Amino acid sequence: MFDFAKTAPAAIVASCLMGWTMPTAAQIVADRLDSNIIRFDASRAAAENRRVSMAFVRPFESQGSVRVLAQRVQPEFSVDETTGRYVASIRTEPGTSLYGTGQCAGALLRNGHVTETWNYDAFGYGLGDRNLYTAHPWVLAVRPDGTAYGVLADTTERCEIDLRGGITFRGVNYQFPVIVIEGETPQEVMKGLGRLTGTIEMPPKWAVGYHQCRYSYNPDARVREIAREFRKRNLPADVIWMDIDYMDGYRVFTFDEEQFPDPAGLNAWLRELGWSNVWMIDPGVKKEEGYFVYDSGTEHDVWVRDANGEVYTGEVWPGVCVFPDYLRADVREWWAGLYEDFMGMGIDGVWNDMNEPAVFNVASKTMPEDNRHEADEELGGPGDHARYHNVYGMMMLRATREGVMAVNPDKRPFVLSRANFIGGHRYGATWTGDNSANWEHLEMSIPMSLNLSLSGQPFVGPDIGGFAYNGDGELFARWMGYGALLPFSRGHTAKGNIDKEPWSFGPEVEATSRRALERRYRLMPYIYTQFWVSSQTGLPIMAPTFFADPTDMALRSEDDSFLLGEDLLVAARVTPEADRVPVLPRPVDGVAWAKFDFPSFDGGRDSKDMHQPDLYIRPGSIITAAPVTQFFGDRPDSRDELHLIVHLNAQGNAEGTLYEDAGEGWGFKEGEYLLTTYRARTRRDGSVSITVASAEGEMPRSDRPVHVRLIMGDAELETWGIDGREIIILRP
Ligand code: NOJ
Repeated sequence: MFDFAKTAPAAIVASCLMGWTMPTAAQIVADRLDSNIIRFDASRAAAENRRVSMAFVRPFESQGSVRVLAQRVQPEFSVDETTGRYVASIRTEPGTSLYGTGQCAGALLRNGHVTETWNYDAFGYGLGDRNLYTAHPWVLAVRPDGTAYGVLADTTERCEIDLRGGITFRGVNYQFPVIVIEGETPQEVMKGLGRLTGTIEMPPKWAVGYHQCRYSYNPDARVREIAREFRKRNLPADVIWMDIDYMDGYRVFTFDEEQFPDPAGLNAWLRELGWSNVWMIDPGVKKEEGYFVYDSGTEHDVWVRDANGEVYTGEVWPGVCVFPDYLRADVREWWAGLYEDFMGMGIDGVWNDMNEPAVFNVASKTMPEDNRHEADEELGGPGDHARYHNVYGMMMLRATREGVMAVNPDKRPFVLSRANFIGGHRYGATWTGDNSANWEHLEMSIPMSLNLSLSGQPFVGPDIGGFAYNGDGELFARWMGYGALLPFSRGHTAKGNIDKEPWSFGPEVEATSRRALERRYRLMPYIYTQFWVSSQTGLPIMAPTFFADPTDMALRSEDDSFLLGEDLLVAARVTPEADRVPVLPRPVDGVAWAKFDFPSFDGGRDSKDMHQPDLYIRPGSIITAAPVTQFFGDRPDSRDELHLIVHLNAQGNAEGTLYEDAGEGWGFKEGEYLLTTYRARTRRDGSVSITVASAEGEMPRSDRPVHVRLIMGDAELETWGIDGREIIILRP
């Protein structure tokens, strides 16, 4: 767990209010946008000049004004006369824990930290860096009594988030509104954020599997070698990734003729082995006449221009590049059109990288702030790059998603983006960029993924094993252990590094990796259900341990463990010594969260492997699982056997939900799914009966065998039954 005292800036200073002009509460305009969502504008004039929100899923009409003084959370607005920055601050009650602020390097608990929203190519980032790849001007505040609220500074501009004394946002160029979401629990706030910014779409099920990447697997023979090796060694995995070296001289939408002469053939071959594929596309387009993307973009006049109206050029991988202005609908359409032939190669998913946008050989590492974007009126109209920088990546992601969907309308799109903005989860998943292969980063990955999750990015994860540098087998094994249970689970490493496949560090690390991956695939019914829950509600897939009991102050800074959904707690060992004892949620009516594990492929239990995190099940819950599969679709019927792990509460009951659908396509929207609530009840004679308490959806239930495990402290009872029929476990 991160030691807050070590990582916090030395001085915790209170907000200095001197020299500021403060609008009074009477001047502040407050509107209700939803039952528990209030928007505050600094003044009537600010409300009239309010910009279109890029975070919101749709425009929200005011449901009527509310009295500022009647609100429990009241932002105060001011302008800092020395810097000219627009300031919004919220006084927090003593004992309030602060989270969110997007991607941050350090502890889960954000009190005392200052960060900034400014998407940045942060290769080699480290503890305490101010701004990384994504921008989320959002804070989740949890009061000592467990009630919570979230605060969004609704600006795309550079914005400082200062949590040294309450919550203070300092923005530039725009008097932004502040949105406050109140909740009896942090979960309610997250659901409110889901209503405001939208929820994820169900991904294809293969994307919930394990992903294997490196910079780069090339030529194609190497891709085949890796793909074959996974299958030969029975290491479950679904997706293999093609990084930039597949391209012809880094020209996007091209293929190197020597190294990747037949991408369609490669993809078809991979498919035979059960692999899905993801290929990278960057925003920088090589400025080169005769190159079809450049020529067509020039013809359509799609490029971002500088302050003088000239097409802006900057260097990235292919040399001098031009950059599409994704803020324009016609440009997004043009960009989407490029995916037709590309996806036609049998490509399943797309990886958008470098879209902060990253530019080489300039101090800012991005394009000039006075570059121009001819943004659509509905996005706010023309403006400079300073205004649109933080949403450039998100709009690229949106255009890519639209292109992918236009080619394969019957399939669920999968797009991964490096840069993003709050609300960007609507278009794709996000990873944490170029981390490093060391223990600090292994430790940091959990709180980083958690704070992104608490900022509305549920489909998230780090480069497992670390991107920069090599690391050793011990580090890799430990990272794989918990990494296999993150929402987005992908191993990746940088060019020039040693091999970092699960077998690269010898048989022991390979065995650890297999156990970890087998866990993910065993837990697939449960994990996939959490994606569905998130898509319906806005709840994070991975949540901090304190979500189990927001009133328990002892859990507030736990960040080497996390919850998957509500019922499964994953407690990782994130230091080399592996000696920290995690703080667990308190017993519920005297019943503690119970440890459980799975059989290991080589006999015994997988928890004997110290690199695996400990798994705990919540009292009163049923976790669904399945036999190990090697990839999505490797059994003719992936729903052919179900496992239920049951942990009774003090009353002798338990319940758990399972969501199932085809794992691909949109049939689920027409009712082709099965949502089952399984219920366990203790009967008078002490036996436990497991039944289907309720079911919804038109997907038929099969007569599949169900394996029930009743967890009873260190012991457990098991039995088999048939799905849909009552199953009884007799207790001695
Ligand atoms: C930067 C990305 O963050 C990394 O994941 C990728 O491998 C390289 N670009 C090369 O494309």
